[in-house]
Amino acid sequence: MTLQTDFPLTTLNTLQLPALAAHYLYVDDCALLPKLPPHQRRFILGGGSNLVLLGDFDGLVLHVGFKGKRLAFEDADAWYVEAAGGENWHDFVLWALAQGWPGLENLVLIPGTVGAAPVQNIGAYGLEAGERIHQVRAIDLETGSEKIFSPTDCRFGYRQSLWKQEGWHLSGRSLITAVTFRLPKQWQANCRYADLAAELEKRGISQPTPQQIADAIITLRQRKLPDPAILPNAGSFFENPIVDALTAEKLAAAHPGLPCYRQADGKVKLAAGWLIEQVGWKGRQLGKMGIYEKQALILVNYGNGKSQDICALVTAVQSDVRRQFGVDLRPEPVFIGSVTN
Ligand code: EPU
Repeated sequence: MTLQTDFPLTTLNTLQLPALAAHYLYVDDCALLPKLPPHQRRFILGGGSNLVLLGDFDGLVLHVGFKGKRLAFEDADAWYVEAAGGENWHDFVLWALAQGWPGLENLVLIPGTVGAAPVQNIGAYGLEAGERIHQVRAIDLETGSEKIFSPTDCRFGYRQSLWKQEGWHLSGRSLITAVTFRLPKQWQANCRYADLAAELEKRGISQPTPQQIADAIITLRQRKLPDPAILPNAGSFFENPIVDALTAEKLAAAHPGLPCYRQADGKVKLAAGWLIEQVGWKGRQLGKMGIYEKQALILVNYGNGKSQDICALVTAVQSDVRRQFGVDLRPEPVFIGSVTN
């Protein structure tokens, strides 16, 4: 672990925004974390796939590199599989499947690291990581002490967690070193998501194995989502907005075809991608940034885009959606720094 200065972050964020970190440390030994000198500003970096760098960062970037994955223990009902925070999420899911421990297959091909999964409570195709998390291990960088969080402690919600609610994803206070997943031995296929059900039907599969679900989802994702290595992006750029039932009813009456997903609490989730497509932004560019032609939730960097290009595009999309539907779109990624160039 060597402290570096003026370290370029361009290749460490999947939008490939240019920015320097005043100080940078690749952390691959958690024993050293409690000994870190206090720093005025800190940011914890995982895969950089949910990140908008608005400019240079004048603090310390801690790049999580801990590796390791193992069966921590098992009981009659479940396998408890632990992975270090710096493990690549997709590789971990495939590895668990290959070991015969299914349960995370709906979350294949999501970019990023294991340590970032609980922060964002990553979710796709009818499953959220929080539904499989048994515990999260983290170091409180203010006190140097280790804490273990239960799923209840984690306060998981749609793209929500304790880390986001406490602002620790911005302040860099709590660094996740490992996550343990509870994978039930009584596995049940989760294919309720319409696109997934349709893809399995197309393949003539009525009783899918975990691997068949993973394969179908990989195909679906590759069809709709651009590979960040080819077309820089940060996955879904906006959260799907959640509105009260009455608002959803009025919107649906005024806008036939509006996708509405009723939530357990009676509220209704709308599809941000549909709203963005309706206001005409799908496939459109503003400067060097644009909205992806195959999925309107994805904002893409078409080459040398900068933070001010992103800000202009985000503001334009948000205001058009607000004007036509009266709905506020909230960006999903974390914004760091301030626009400087
Ligand atoms: N839609 C459109 N136009 C578009 C995109 C979507 O009309 O350009 C409509 C679809 O036809 C569908 C609805 O919107 O009726 C939902 O679309 P889709 O199933 O593609 O899912 P999504 O809501 O756009 C969410 C997650 C994705 C996840 C998919 C699949 C959020 C913000 N996004 O997208 O997560 O992969 O469901 O489960 O919740 C991510 O977070 O980075 C991400 C990719």
